[in-house]
Amino acid sequence: MLVNTQSPTPPRLDKLRVDHLKDPLALPVRSPRFSWQIAPGTNRDTTQRSYRIRIHRREPGDAAGPLAADTGEVASPDSVTVRVPGFVGQEGADYTWTLEVWTSDAARLTSGGTFGIGIGIESTSWQAPWVEPEQDTVIAEGPLGLSPQAAEAGKPVLPLRDRLHPPRFLRHGFWLEKRPIRARLRITSQGVHQPFLNGSPVGDEVLAPGYESYHRSISVMTHDVTRMLAKGPNVLGVILGDGWYAGRISFLGRSAQYGDRLRATWQLELTDPDGRTHLILPDEGVLSSRGPIDWSDLFIGERYDANAEIPGWDTTDFDDTDRTLWKPSRTVPVTVPLTPFVGEPIRRVAELPARHVTSNSVGETIVDFGQVLAGRVRMRVRGEAGTTVRLEHTETLDSAGSFVNNIHGVNKDQVDEYVLAGRPDGETWEPLFTFHGFRYVRLSGYPGTPRPEDFTAVVISSDLEPTAAFTSSDHRLDRLFANTVWSQRANFLAVPTDCPQRERAGWTGDLQIFAPTAATLMDVASFLGRWLGNVRTDQRDHGGIVPNIVPEPPALAVLEDDGSEFAQITAAAGWGDVITVAPWELYRHYGDIRFLAENFQAMRDWVNFQTRDAAALQPERLRGVHLSGEQAARHELLWNGRLHFGDWLAPSTLAGYLENPADAVMIAPRLTSELVGPMFQARSLDLLASTADILGEHAIAHRSRDQAAAVRDAFASEYISPDGRISPALQGVYVLALAFDMVPASLVPAATDRLVELVHAADDHLDTGFLSVPYLLDVLWENGHPELARTLLLQDTPPSWLYEVKMGATTIWETWRAIHEDGSVEMASMNHYAFGCVVDWMMRRLAGIQLIEPGYRAAAIAPDLDGFLDRCEAHVDTPYGRLATHWERHRHGAVLTITVPVGGRARVVLPPGWALPSGRDDLASGTHVLEIARSHGPDTRSVPA
Ligand code: BGC
Repeated sequence: MLVNTQSPTPPRLDKLRVDHLKDPLALPVRSPRFSWQIAPGTNRDTTQRSYRIRIHRREPGDAAGPLAADTGEVASPDSVTVRVPGFVGQEGADYTWTLEVWTSDAARLTSGGTFGIGIGIESTSWQAPWVEPEQDTVIAEGPLGLSPQAAEAGKPVLPLRDRLHPPRFLRHGFWLEKRPIRARLRITSQGVHQPFLNGSPVGDEVLAPGYESYHRSISVMTHDVTRMLAKGPNVLGVILGDGWYAGRISFLGRSAQYGDRLRATWQLELTDPDGRTHLILPDEGVLSSRGPIDWSDLFIGERYDANAEIPGWDTTDFDDTDRTLWKPSRTVPVTVPLTPFVGEPIRRVAELPARHVTSNSVGETIVDFGQVLAGRVRMRVRGEAGTTVRLEHTETLDSAGSFVNNIHGVNKDQVDEYVLAGRPDGETWEPLFTFHGFRYVRLSGYPGTPRPEDFTAVVISSDLEPTAAFTSSDHRLDRLFANTVWSQRANFLAVPTDCPQRERAGWTGDLQIFAPTAATLMDVASFLGRWLGNVRTDQRDHGGIVPNIVPEPPALAVLEDDGSEFAQITAAAGWGDVITVAPWELYRHYGDIRFLAENFQAMRDWVNFQTRDAAALQPERLRGVHLSGEQAARHELLWNGRLHFGDWLAPSTLAGYLENPADAVMIAPRLTSELVGPMFQARSLDLLASTADILGEHAIAHRSRDQAAAVRDAFASEYISPDGRISPALQGVYVLALAFDMVPASLVPAATDRLVELVHAADDHLDTGFLSVPYLLDVLWENGHPELARTLLLQDTPPSWLYEVKMGATTIWETWRAIHEDGSVEMASMNHYAFGCVVDWMMRRLAGIQLIEPGYRAAAIAPDLDGFLDRCEAHVDTPYGRLATHWERHRHGAVLTITVPVGGRARVVLPPGWALPSGRDDLASGTHVLEIARSHGPDTRSVPA
């Protein structure tokens, strides 16, 4: 007999967080909230009885300072975003917090952490000016519109060397009488920056401060540089590049969209051993020069000439007296609000070695990294001085294995160049201020024979913690899951973007569609909370309209005069609705009511805009048509008079895409706008009502609910026939109507039948676009067709999810046929996360992890035991801890292992015909192994005995 010799492990505290962050240095609020988890050890059914939080001022030198707040022992199971009453931190100060927790197993657990409060929250405490180094003004270039004529006219003619300027290298020398015991560098830029102190890089951030609505406020990065300073002379170096502020961005690929002069500002806050504090601020004496980087643009790429390096430029023994090289700066007052950066910065999050370097039949040298990603290549090379190596990036090859550019547009080059210094031992280079969307690199000019080990793909992304996993007996689904994670990683880069190569823009619709999946796969609380701040500020200028792209560069206003149909879409259903959907999803996933409170007014403004716009605009087909009083009243209620993106990229609307993509993509908008408008209007009204209830605004909740009901009645009368038909007969239209409760109960069976007919007519394939795809499988499942939902998921001919997996995709494609069966490549992105939203469905319906109460405080585990999988294993790292399930079928039943975090509960829900051991359907914390039996006879399929 085996004896369990392992001693039981006691519970312990884990993952202490302050406003979702681990030991943050500079929070943007003065009264943060605290979260923690209890790792249960080997015990089951552990619960938290009470907690106590004490906050102490943290003195420079890390000594514990006076007590700033003490909750006393609070009898409560709460452990997520817990407030400390009465605590209001001081701007710029540091704190420690100690946590004590008493559990039901009579344990007393202790742990602690640190946090700092940033500056510029309520006061205008920023004292430094902008430093504007000597520079050539960035040339505003790129098309001024979307039409082919505008694009043609905007095509740059000058060679890159004449139209791009080198990043500036700034030197700020200063003298310290004493070595400080506390030093904080707060720094930001109009442009992107990389700081150095005394010759070493500061921090591991990439492309700081990231992308945001720079004309409204700019985030300040805070670094602890206590150990980097010396008594005597010191030098702060800063490299400053165009970045999103002045470089080429967005679908127009136009430069200088926020400004055309690069600037940086910083404050060094120092505390001496005697406790005295002082500030070092930059002034005109900051010197700047050009360095080895000839240019660096996010889209175009970077060119680096190693012969022009300036050894020691950021150190104290460097001679900067040559005024022909090192020029003084101008200072300019800071007028835009500077606020603490919130959340995780962009970092190098992974490295992938090259898989192969091959020569193809047309003589190209291709480096393959095996994975589509966002990042850049670090290269090792040895050769003669002056040799230029060129790296051209792409996501795919053509059917013959040759380099092909699948990204159209002006300034979307994605080309890096490196000029060798000719060092005998070789040289290593990685660009600084650019990134690309790619899997392959076409290499030219490389001296000698390139070997895979000389090339590494450096993956960059906002450094978000992954929070989910999925594996199953069907490895294709595992790949689909992994592809979605890769697409999220590539596109959650400063802001949520559509794609990391062509537009790299914060398209609101893409995020609206993907928000539930995003919050399942990674901890996006701070990241999306920060971006929603930009959504709110960019909304202000538009009378409640949420722009289609956030951040919305002011230069995008040029589109107002653009003749194209696409540019007419200025307020879009399912795009602007991100302001109701995303806060709600964040609240659901993280249990943090602040997401609702912060966005409530913006939600109301958006819904009020929809209401006003509904009254003002009638569908074009009805303009001038006489309507009955009732009909006219209905149309005044319905938000149906605008052109939207509609069920964007629905497959059957895309015939002709290969020949003329720009025209093909407008078919779905034309066909579906009148219907998607009111459907999203009803959905946003529902979300506003639920939010209002939670915030105690019951009158608003009431009104919104009534209005939603009126919109639904009007919609049903106008658009749903007595036999449950809706025109146009597209799957997406039925899916949204059923998902958003637009169909009166009596007509749901008929509308479902119609949807099922449409799916069958498409040979059991999906025909859904952006807006409807998140709901397709749920609508079928919930309305009695789980088998058809499974069939759609398993299709591997296009359009389907597994087609792209079969074709070797490593990320999620923008279109369902981005690569055709014959290998021809569409002008489409290979890295658009929107259609990856199906993995959220896989987590809920196959693995069976379902969120019931905000923060997963209550969950359901509903495994798909009757489906095609024999085995599935998945987890979600919830705010309370890991919620995991593993199930495996055998001939007479299944074994289901469920882990529930402390503070959560899980209800087990099995399909009919499966029986749980009695009393095991409501599980508290710990790991539970459940033997479940089939009550309807043995499984006849070939599953393990
Ligand atoms: C983007 C999308 C975006 C769309 C608007 C495209 O060009 O890549 O993902 O949402 O435009 O429909």
